[in-house]
Amino acid sequence: MKKLIALALVAILAFSAGCSGSSGGKGVTKDGVTTYRVGVSIYKFDDNFMTLYRNEIQSYFKSLETATVKYQVNVQDAKNDMAEQANQVDSFLAQGVDVLIINLVQSSSEATITAKAKNAKVPVVYINREPMEANAMDYESACYVGADAKQSGTYQGEIIAELPNKGDADGDGTVRYVMIMGDPENVDAQYRTEYSVKALVDKGIAVEELFKQRGDWDQAKGQELAASALAQFGASVDVVFCNNDGMALGAAQAIASANRTVGKDIYLVGVDALDEVVEMVKNGTMTGTVLNDHIGQSHTAVDAAIKYINSQTNDKRIMVNYQKVVA
Ligand code: BGC
Repeated sequence: MKKLIALALVAILAFSAGCSGSSGGKGVTKDGVTTYRVGVSIYKFDDNFMTLYRNEIQSYFKSLETATVKYQVNVQDAKNDMAEQANQVDSFLAQGVDVLIINLVQSSSEATITAKAKNAKVPVVYINREPMEANAMDYESACYVGADAKQSGTYQGEIIAELPNKGDADGDGTVRYVMIMGDPENVDAQYRTEYSVKALVDKGIAVEELFKQRGDWDQAKGQELAASALAQFGASVDVVFCNNDGMALGAAQAIASANRTVGKDIYLVGVDALDEVVEMVKNGTMTGTVLNDHIGQSHTAVDAAIKYINSQTNDKRIMVNYQKVVA
């Protein structure tokens, strides 16, 4: 008999937890404490910048907890696989999360993810990979938090243009450059590539592209590509532009192995301002970088998610500024 009562109690408890979870945006209240569930999917964990970003999402949620409000944040690795990410979103929604924070694997799949969220009436905050389609985020409770990639590219170009020799390391009148790109699924890669060079051209500086290839944001690929560009074009390379610091760290190793010296016979710029890169900028082994403010962006994304939880609205696109980092 006792066993039966216990079983019935478990069933009732499980049922009521399920009910409050599925109502969405209301959290689950127990003993006066409301717990909101947050589903986060990151395009892949093995990414320097997104690792800092996702850790900050978690610690910032934690810092906002009170005696009566808690956040249960479930962060998943989409392993650079869009199908995997779509499954993660389905299971978050089935679990009855109150809000989603999504770093898309493919920004072109945003409409599919938004439709799922809209159908379940669960708000969604997109981060880092900006959905660019004309009618992107067709849902009143969907927004994007990020930074203006054009600005980061422009800052990279300006860092070079502001050097005394305007980046013309060998003084032959033309800035010859190598471009190591991120994964073009992220508009950051496209705009940083375009706007870094545009900043030089806009200042009337003559440029020539020697080499351009994608290194997918990855340090090892950055090293490989820079090594191959330096082997191919030797002393004529004045500047190595990398779409992020991860790849610039790889390029710095290749530059050292090729017996070239940053600041003397070659220049190197990245984006993100990873701690180790900021150190290198200070000691001159990297010409400059651009702060991709993962703290500002993660806090803004969390604040937007909490506004949705509290039935408030957000602007469609919320932008955080980049900043130049030079010695
Ligand atoms: C960062 C890269 C990162 C990428 C991921 C970019 O904004 O600069 O370091 O790999 O986002 O999507």
